[in-house]
Amino acid sequence: METSSPIHELVQNAYQKYRELNDGAVATYIPELGKANGDHFGIAVATVDGEVFTAGDWEQEFTIQSICKPFAFQMALEQFGRDATLRCVGVEPSGDAFNSIELDPRTMRPYNPMINAGAIAVSSLIKKSPVEAGINAFVSAMGRAAGRELRIDKDVLFSETVTGNRNRAMAYLMLNCGIIDEGVDDALQQYFSQCSMLVNTRDLAMMAATLANMGRNPVNNDRVFDFQYIKDVLTVMFTCGLYDYAGEWAYHVGLPAKSGVGGGIISVVNRQLGIAVYSPKLDEKGNSVRGIAVCKELAAHLGLHAFEFTNVGSSFMQWLKED
Ligand code: DON
Repeated sequence: METSSPIHELVQNAYQKYRELNDGAVATYIPELGKANGDHFGIAVATVDGEVFTAGDWEQEFTIQSICKPFAFQMALEQFGRDATLRCVGVEPSGDAFNSIELDPRTMRPYNPMINAGAIAVSSLIKKSPVEAGINAFVSAMGRAAGRELRIDKDVLFSETVTGNRNRAMAYLMLNCGIIDEGVDDALQQYFSQCSMLVNTRDLAMMAATLANMGRNPVNNDRVFDFQYIKDVLTVMFTCGLYDYAGEWAYHVGLPAKSGVGGGIISVVNRQLGIAVYSPKLDEKGNSVRGIAVCKELAAHLGLHAFEFTNVGSSFMQWLKED
């Protein structure tokens, strides 16, 4: 089935074009991540009609890292609503690195849920007692979006936990400011566990396509997410998903997206596609070098930018069907 679609060809071409791109470096600040093979490179594109197109090492598992953040934000909105969630975290781009130890001085909240401080505030909200219950709820929801059971990499979790003092500092700052409750260790365990969940590139494309498909997994039609909050999530992905590269990303690619230091990146074409790339060599801002190149390429070829003048993107599925 894959060979009959123009997407198949685009995915294969992007893979061939960028497999020789070797810039960047694998993250090592979490020591276990340093074991990743920098040559690995996978691409997956899932349509809201349930087709999936893959290339390269798409079956290779890696930890989701910060790509867990938009999904955790979705879960917080579903469980607590907008008002209570936004009392703990803002929706303003910080323009700073993902691990900055800072709060918005006007509100004393973390700037947004895509940076570490905001994600820890969200984890504090969705954690449960016992802590395993909140972690299992997250992993189970993500598995439904991916369409298969997912699990946590215990070695990465250990590595994150023992080296996560910067995140610990942010959490205690937020406790001091009344943003999170005194269950600081549980909030951090929830956050570290979310980041340590194993996925492959296809899983990420399915998770992105579930957001694109108004919360339903496009293959089995499982209603995973409450669609009324997806616009909140896609908005912060659009404005804050790539941290201090978010403006450049919006300008060049024009799609909601999220990257992770494990080497994954997702992009959502609302009502149409989920795009995922895995390549663990990162640029200095913590984003996958090949991941950015592939997303730029696909967005340009398919006219996916939100403000594309030719507007091919908005009629893309129609165009595919007519082809
Ligand atoms: O908290 C951390 O530093 C990691 N667990 C996640 C950071 C991350 O993926 C940043 N993304 N580019």
